[in-house]
Amino acid sequence: MNEKLQKIRDDAIEQIKAAKGMDSLNDIRVKILGKKGEITSIMKGMKDIPKEERPAFGQMVNTARQEIEAALEETKQKIAAAAREAQLKREIIDVTLPAKKPALGHRHPNSIALEEVERIFVGMGYEVVDGPEIEKDYYNFEALNIPANHPAKDEQDTFYITKDLLLRTQTSGTQVHVMENQSLPIRMIAPGRVFRADELDATHSPNFHQIEGLVIDKNITFADLKGTLAEFARQLFGPDTKVKFRPHHFPFTEPSAEVDVTCFKCHGKGCRVCKGEGWIEILGCGMVHPHVLEMSGIDPNEYQGFAFGVGLERIAMLKYEIDDMHNMYENDIRFLKQF
Ligand code: DAH
Repeated sequence: MNEKLQKIRDDAIEQIKAAKGMDSLNDIRVKILGKKGEITSIMKGMKDIPKEERPAFGQMVNTARQEIEAALEETKQKIAAAAREAQLKREIIDVTLPAKKPALGHRHPNSIALEEVERIFVGMGYEVVDGPEIEKDYYNFEALNIPANHPAKDEQDTFYITKDLLLRTQTSGTQVHVMENQSLPIRMIAPGRVFRADELDATHSPNFHQIEGLVIDKNITFADLKGTLAEFARQLFGPDTKVKFRPHHFPFTEPSAEVDVTCFKCHGKGCRVCKGEGWIEILGCGMVHPHVLEMSGIDPNEYQGFAFGVGLERIAMLKYEIDDMHNMYENDIRFLKQF
């Protein structure tokens, strides 16, 4: 073999065998076999060789080239295998280690309490409906017998978006939507978020939740209201819970009442949960005012009904003995996990 060619081949194979990575291997390939590589330039020198020797010389160059290519391929395989080996070592998995558990969230006490309330009323044949959080003044106040300048508007200081549009202060407006849209009779509860311009403290929040209830049918009396809410209280707080109806005033019901239940913790003796009273106030209610029925197109001579409004946070905080409203809105998993 031509001496020069032999030297190129030997040097190339030596360099290839010594190559440490794919990059340097590629550099060597370009240097030897590339367009400007050593083998290529030797081929170009063919024209200086006597014609009759050219086929034999060409043969030699090809052989050298094949040997170099084979060496390249062999080293490439070796480097790839070594890289794979190193990767496997790096990624070794100790299957005996304890698994990492994904951090799971927890249901909010409000959600747990709401499901309980919904279960009770659905069990009594009520439908669960949704009302808008952004509400017209008409639905939040006017149609509930609270005309402009009524003092009850002051008690529920609210966030106005425009003069006629506001963040609802109570879920009671959903009663009006349902009376306007649904065929009679009606048996519904409407849970949802409400807003009032209150500071956040241990017992108040600028946004909280209520559950509204409405029943409209023929021959509905205060006895139906009492029986329904007494059954609700027993299912929610325990079978020996007693209820007390205290006369109260709401513009959209007549007569109206506030309902107290015997303390589920001390059963009426007086304790920390009921602040020594033995009784706990849980909701407002009453017989739907005839004027409210009329405004929504229902004839009060033919149909009567009752309504009630429960504060969801109040129920959850009582049931789970939570004494500070702040906890309800911080979403601290350490707090939530306790219920
Ligand atoms: N909406 C009243 C409030 O926020 C609660 C209420 C009282 C709702 C009596 C009613 C009801 O439906 O009949 O204070």
